[in-house]
Amino acid sequence: MAMYRSFSHIVCSRHMREISRLCGSHLRCLSSLVDLPETHALLRKTCRDFAENELAPIAGKIDKEHTYPKKQVETMGELGLMCVSVPETDGGTGLDYLAYAIAMEEISRGCATAGVIMSVNNSLYLGPIEKYATKAQKDQFMSPFLSGKKVGCFALSEPGNGSDAGAASTTATMHKDSWVLNGTKSWITNGYESEATVVFATTDKQLKHKGISAFLVPKPVDGLSLGKKEDKLGIRASSTCNLIFDDCHIPKEYLLGEAGYGFKIAMETLDAGRIGIAGQALGIGQAALDCAIEYSTKRISFGQPISKLQTIQIKLADMQTRLESARLLTWKAAMLKDSGKAFTMEAAMAKLAASEAATFAAHQSIQILGGMGYVTDMPAERHYRDARITEIYEGTSEIQRLVIAGNLLKQHGS
Ligand code: CAA
Repeated sequence: MAMYRSFSHIVCSRHMREISRLCGSHLRCLSSLVDLPETHALLRKTCRDFAENELAPIAGKIDKEHTYPKKQVETMGELGLMCVSVPETDGGTGLDYLAYAIAMEEISRGCATAGVIMSVNNSLYLGPIEKYATKAQKDQFMSPFLSGKKVGCFALSEPGNGSDAGAASTTATMHKDSWVLNGTKSWITNGYESEATVVFATTDKQLKHKGISAFLVPKPVDGLSLGKKEDKLGIRASSTCNLIFDDCHIPKEYLLGEAGYGFKIAMETLDAGRIGIAGQALGIGQAALDCAIEYSTKRISFGQPISKLQTIQIKLADMQTRLESARLLTWKAAMLKDSGKAFTMEAAMAKLAASEAATFAAHQSIQILGGMGYVTDMPAERHYRDARITEIYEGTSEIQRLVIAGNLLKQHGS
């Protein structure tokens, strides 16, 4: 534990000196594909040790019992993992998005539920606050959410619109000095545990997506109730529920950014969030591959370990190739974001490739384990269930393809 606790200190004290070096290191990293920069390698090792020692051993139990991993999330906070890319000046860990993608992969390799809790707090909740909040808003809605003791959530989808995010029907109307929110937001990860949320609501329906605004809402608050906890296929130790707003009054100062700018805030937030989900998918896929390798070297069939059979080797090779391809896309998207360049298309490609690689790897892993892959004695069936959501949340694979094609055609002037 001492090593874990010292990590954010090590990173913070080295940070300023490292950061100028990292720009060059990123380029070397991509061109030579050899080593990560020292800071990132250290982060990966710290996250891997923590995931192997403290997440993997409990992942099956908390999945079965639907238990939020409070203690582990707090330790992740101590490691600086609940605010990876929030600048040090705002009290965050002050690392970049490449670091965040790597940390997301390692944490999710140990436990996909811990991964989603981390990603929602980092990119969906703190991301837009870091970019758009005033000093007073940051004091209230950001500072207490950096340590893992409190987590936030992000409320965009509704029962009637998921992919069509611009069709929000939750309303925000001004009454005296308050915004009054009415409507239901759905599929809210961290819905039960979160102590604040970024909510998108329309202030002018006539304006369609240009009438959507973003709001900061503390939880609990009068006029906001929670729907039932969804009984999910995977990531079962995280809570998912509806947020139901019924004449929920919040001060007018809780508008985040400008009125009517909410759709852009949501889209920018999701661009970044998709890099985190790509990292999560890589972690799940890598865990599935690890499990398949381990099993295939021990399982004897036809007088030898099944890893000696070409049919098994072909599966392992395909899993590795798809995961490594997706990893490079993910790192590229993160590096583009870190260098201030456009990364919408690359983030969509990363999420698409990583989530499909994870689903593929988890499927193949079960195939290699056979009957042992189908029972809860081994983690392969959990990886298979966990992988599936990465093709759905933060934009389905179909939406990622639309984003990729739309950007591609735009680049060609069509
Ligand atoms: N960044 C900034 N602005 C963007 C943008 C981006 N990436 N993408 C679009 N915009 C802007 C456009 O420039 C345009 O601006 P103007 O009106 O000023 O011209 C405006 O937004 C509308 O653009 P589009 O016409 O392209 O928008 P659209 O209505 O066709 O929708 C979409 C595009 C890609 C389908 C979008 O709706 C989308 O991403 N949908 C998926 C939503 C999603 O991922 N939901 C997941 C919810 S979060 C979650 O999963 C819960 C959880 O807890 C994990």
